[in-house]
Amino acid sequence: MIIHLWRYFYTNIFRFWLKWIVRLVTGKCELQRICNGTRKNAERTLRIEYSLESSKYKSLQNAVNATEDEVEKYVAFIIEEKKIKIQKDIGFASKLQLCLLQISGFRKLCLAVEDLRKQVYNSDSKEHEEQLMELWNLLMPHEKLKARITKQWCDIGFQGDDPKTDFRGMGMLGLTNLLYFSKHYPHEARQILARSNHPKLGYSYAIVGINLTEMAYCLLTKGLLKSHFYNSVPGTPQLNDFHQFYCYLTYEFDKFWFEEKPESIMYFNQYREKFHEKVKRQLLDYNVVLALKNEK
Ligand SMILES: *[C@@H]1O[C@H](CO)[C@@H](O)[C@H](O)[C@H]1NC(C)=O
Ligand SMILES: *[C@@H]1O[C@H](CO)[C@@H](O)[C@H](O)[C@H]1NC(C)=O
Ligand SMILES: *[C@@H]1O[C@H](CO)[C@@H](O)[C@H](O)[C@H]1NC(C)=O
Repeated sequence: MIIHLWRYFYTNIFRFWLKWIVRLVTGKCELQRICNGTRKNAERTLRIEYSLESSKYKSLQNAVNATEDEVEKYVAFIIEEKKIKIQKDIGFASKLQLCLLQISGFRKLCLAVEDLRKQVYNSDSKEHEEQLMELWNLLMPHEKLKARITKQWCDIGFQGDDPKTDFRGMGMLGLTNLLYFSKHYPHEARQILARSNHPKLGYSYAIVGINLTEMAYCLLTKGLLKSHFYNSVPGTPQLNDFHQFYCYLTYEFDKFWFEEKPESIMYFNQYREKFHEKVKRQLLDYNVVLALKNEK
C-alpha cells in the first residue's frame, strides 16, 4: 500500500516537480538532458521512450506510437511544445529523431513478426510447400525425400510423417526461422542436427527449433529485445534481424544443453526455463547485442 502510494506520488507529483526544478536550473528539459547525457546506445532510446510515455502531455505520449513517416513531424512538434532552443543545443533534433525512428521501428517489427506467426502452414500453398522442401534439402543434402508424407521427416526432428501439424501456435514464423538458420548458417545447422541425434542427450531438432521460435517471440512481445535491437540496428529492424536473433538462440541453446547434460529429454521444460532466464538476464544490460557472428 505504502509502496503503491509512493510510486503514485513519485511518478505523478514528485517527478513532475523535480523535472520542473531541474529545467529551471539548467534551462534544459528532460529529453535534452537524456540526449546529451547518455551515450548513443539502447539506454538513450529507452530513457527517451520512458520519458515520453510518462509525459503528462497526451501529444508527447503519442510520439512513441508515431510511424516512421510521422517521426520528423513529431520531432518538430516536441521542440515547439517543450519550447526547446535548438540553436543552443545543436545535436538535439537529430538525436531525438534517431530515438523515435528506433522506437517506431521496433513496433513495426513486432507487427511484422505477428503477421508471420498468424499465417498457418497451408499444404495447398505452393510457397509454403517449397519452403518446407528447401528446409529438407538444406539439412539433408545427400538424402532425397521419398514422398511428401513420410516418416523421414522425423530424421530432422519433426514429430510424425507430416510437419504441417508441428508448427502450431508459431505458424510460418517457425518454419521461416528454421529455414533462415539452415540457409545462412548451413554448417552450424547440420552440425546441430547431427548433435541432436546423440543417443543420450539427443532432442528433436525441428520441434525444439519451433519451441525456441516461441521463446524469441515471447521475448520480443514482452519488449525484452528492445535493448538488443536498439544497439544492433540504427533504424528500423527488419524480419531478418529477428531471424538472426533466433539463430543466436538455437546455437546457444544447443551449446547450453550439451554443457548441462540433462538426464533425458523429459527434463526439457526445466532446462528450457533455465536457458530462458539466462537470456533474459543478458538482455537487461544496456549494451547487450546477442549475435551469432560467423555468418557465411
Ligand atoms: C500506443 O499504442 C499502444 C498499442 O499499439 C496502446 O496500447 C497505447 O495506448 C498507445 N499509446 C498512446 C499514447 O496512444
Ligand atoms: C552537453 O554536456 C556537456 C558536458 O557533459 C556540456 O558541457 C554541454 O554544455 C552540454 N550541451 C548541451 C547542449 O546541453
Ligand atoms: C515449448 O516448450 C514449453 C516447455 O515444454 C511448452 O510449455 C511450450 O508450449 C512449448 N511451445 C511450443 C510452441 O512448442
